[in-house]
Parts: sequence; structure tokens; C-alpha cells
Amino acid sequence: MTSKLWGGRFEKGLSNISAELSESISYDVNLYEHDIEASRAHANMLATQGVITKDQNKNIQSGLDTVLDEFRENKIELRPELEDIHTHVETRLGELIGEDAKRLHTGRSRNDQVAVDTHLFLRDRIEEQITLILELLSKFAELADQNQGKVWAGFTHLQIAQPVALSHYLMAYFFKFKRDFELLEFSRQECNVSPLGASAMVGPNYNLDRFDTSKALKFSKPYENSVDAVSNRDYQLSYHFFATRLFIHISRFCEDIIIYNSSEFRYVKLGDAVTTGSSIMPQKKNPDICELLRGKSARITGNLISLLQNLKGLPLTYNRDLQEDKVFLFDTTDQVRQGLLGMVEVLNNIEFNSEAVIKNLQRGFAPATDIADYLVKEFRVPFREAHEIVGRLVLHCEESSITLDQLSSDTLKDIIGHEVPQKITQIESSIERKQGYGSTNSASVKEQLNIASEFLKSKSN
Ligand code: ARG
Repeated sequence: MTSKLWGGRFEKGLSNISAELSESISYDVNLYEHDIEASRAHANMLATQGVITKDQNKNIQSGLDTVLDEFRENKIELRPELEDIHTHVETRLGELIGEDAKRLHTGRSRNDQVAVDTHLFLRDRIEEQITLILELLSKFAELADQNQGKVWAGFTHLQIAQPVALSHYLMAYFFKFKRDFELLEFSRQECNVSPLGASAMVGPNYNLDRFDTSKALKFSKPYENSVDAVSNRDYQLSYHFFATRLFIHISRFCEDIIIYNSSEFRYVKLGDAVTTGSSIMPQKKNPDICELLRGKSARITGNLISLLQNLKGLPLTYNRDLQEDKVFLFDTTDQVRQGLLGMVEVLNNIEFNSEAVIKNLQRGFAPATDIADYLVKEFRVPFREAHEIVGRLVLHCEESSITLDQLSSDTLKDIIGHEVPQKITQIESSIERKQGYGSTNSASVKEQLNIASEFLKSKSN
């Protein structure tokens, strides 16, 4: 049995099984940089407030330097009986500097310590990911720009609906991921608040300056309420919600690409860098990277639900259940990083095949809506009636195994009862005919590209 932080009150130690259940060092070792950073700020503030002497602080600071180096060099032995990262840092500090180490924990508790560590950790991850998601956004805008003028297939119910500009389709994803970016910024704001100094829950019995530590750790402010500070995990929830929605978007995009990449579609061709072979079927080239990204959305959603479930019945303030939050947080932050990098990799290794799309669009009678709208505009046919007429036209084509553009002008006139120009049955002209803000015509796409470039410029500093 080792002596615990709370040794005085206890006669015996935890049983082995409980000790195993209790440890978190196997994963919260991830927090060592942030734990030490927060400890430094705390000790400096204790010295400024006269709670410890300047010499004691000096001793603590140089001891923490060494502890940090030792962690970085993998020299610290992880000891499950010391439970968590906070105890490891303090114990090693004690071994290095002796008595003064015992003063570091004055006026703070592991409840505010773990909270401040996870705020700092998450803020760092978010900073990295802000850059990564901006790279993804740039990639979508760049592809949309390069592919202007190309036709793509618009689906509803995974049935051909109408022609759409490829750039318009790609920009749809740009705007989805832009909203995720905005959620990430919000999440950064929520985790930029300092819980340090809330102590166990009601504040310390010393005149500590929480504004001082908040400033030293570059937070925007300390939490206004110490009970809230140690019980709050909303900043993590916001991040998990961001991550979940991001991965829902990643998953939907990957699903599109998996379908488009199939030999039945051949709308896109994925490069070797993002496909794998089969161990038995020599001809196979599988879209594994897209499948993995789609698959990962399950565990990301799971982590959000896990944290929601963890929190839902927790009485204020701190409860040990909260130790589990880091399992979800570490996993999701890692996966988001991989997801964003993986998406850029897919976009760097994809070719779009507009010709295959045009053939399919004709097979799916995609110009049907254009013909109906032509009847409305040119001959003032009520739309419902036009819909009916073109429906009959499609039936005729289906029965004769032809596409709308293969109809002769005479047959067109016979069935429709009006003279319609054959170009209405062509795919290429359909896109430019679409009007109104946000539609698929090339001017609208240009407008969207401008919005994207202004946005990316505003974020590029
Ligand atoms: N390892 C704990 C956690 O991750 C630190 C806080 C422990 N606090 C306590 N009162 N037991 O949440």
C-alpha cells in the first residue's frame, strides 16, 4: 500500500480490484503538459498572494521544469496506485524538491485541476483543428472552382432527379463544413474559461487571485461560479456535438463517393493512395478510406451519447463518474484530426467523370422537369397538367427503351401537343436555366465561390 493524498483519514488501502478500477493514469497521462502548465500558474499566483514564499515558488518552478522534461523523455514510471496525472506530477515533484512540493496543492483540488487541464488540452486541440478544417474548406472551394462548367447528377431518394453543376454539389459540402467550423469556434470560446481556483467546489480559504491564473493561462475569464466551474462539462459536450456533426457530414460525403466509385456508377475514380486491394479477388480496388471515415462516425456519435449519459443524472458538483469523460474526449479529438486529414487526402485523390454522369442523367429522364416547366412558361399550361403530360412522355420513353433526348421532334409534338425545341431535352442546357439565389447556374456558383474566398481570406491570419 502506498500513502495516498488522503492517507490521514484511512487505515487500509484500496483493494486491488478497486485500485485497478480507480486508475486513470493509463490515459490521463496525455494531460501532463497541461497539468504542469496549470500548476506553474497556480504556484506563481500563490507566491504573488503571499501564500507561499518566493523561494518556495522558485523551487517548485524548477522542479516542475524537471518533471516536464522527464515526462517528455518518457522517464516517468506510470504507477497505477498513484491513480492519475495530478498525483504523478506532485509525487515526482516531491521526490525532486522535497517539502516545498507539499505546498503546491494549497487552495486547489483535483476537481478544479482536472477541469483546468481538460480545458487547456481541448483548447490546444481545437486550435490545431481550426487549421485542419480550414484546409478542408479550401480544398472543397478549390475543387469547385476547378470543376466549373461540369455536369453532375442530382439525386433524391438515390434516384436521378435533375442535372446539377459539379461545383454546386461540391459547394454544398463546403457550406456544411463551414457551419461545422463555426461550431468549432463556438466550442473554443466555451473552453476558454478558467475553472482553476474554484478549489474543491466553494472556493479556497485563502485570498487567491483567480483572475491572475486565468490571465497567465490565457483564458478569457475565470468561471463566475465555483460550483459551476467544477461540475461543468458543457465545453466538452459542445466539442462532441461539433465532432458528431462534422462526422455525419464526413460520413455522408464518403457514402456519396463510395456509391459514385462503384463500377455500377463510375462517376468518380479514387486514386491508389486512398484505395486498397482484396487479398483474394485480384480485380478489386476498394474505397476503404471512405468506408473507414464513414465507420468512424459511429464511435464519434457514441462518445457524444456516452458523455450525455454520464452527465444526465450527476448531482452537483464533482463525482468520480467524470473521470470517464477523458476517455471520450481523447478518442474524439484524435479521430477528428484523422477525419479531417483523411478527407483532404480523399479530395486530393479523386477524379470526377462528367461523361458517365451525363449518360446516367439521360437514362434517369433528368430533363423531365425542364420540359414540364417549358410548357408552363411558353404555353401557360398549368404546372399540374404539364407534370401529367411529361409523365406520359417518360412512360412512352420507358416502354420504347429510349431516353428523352432520343425522341424525334414529331413524337415530342404528338405526345405533348405543343412544339418544344429538342434542346430542352439536353442535359447541358438544364443547369443554366435554373434561376434564383442559391441555385445551380454558373453565376450562382461564382457567387458562392466569392463567398468562400472572402470567408477563407478572413480566417487566414
Ligand atoms: N482523476 C480524477 C478525474 O479524472 C481527478 C479528480 C479526482 N477528484 C476526486 N475528488 N476524486 O476526474
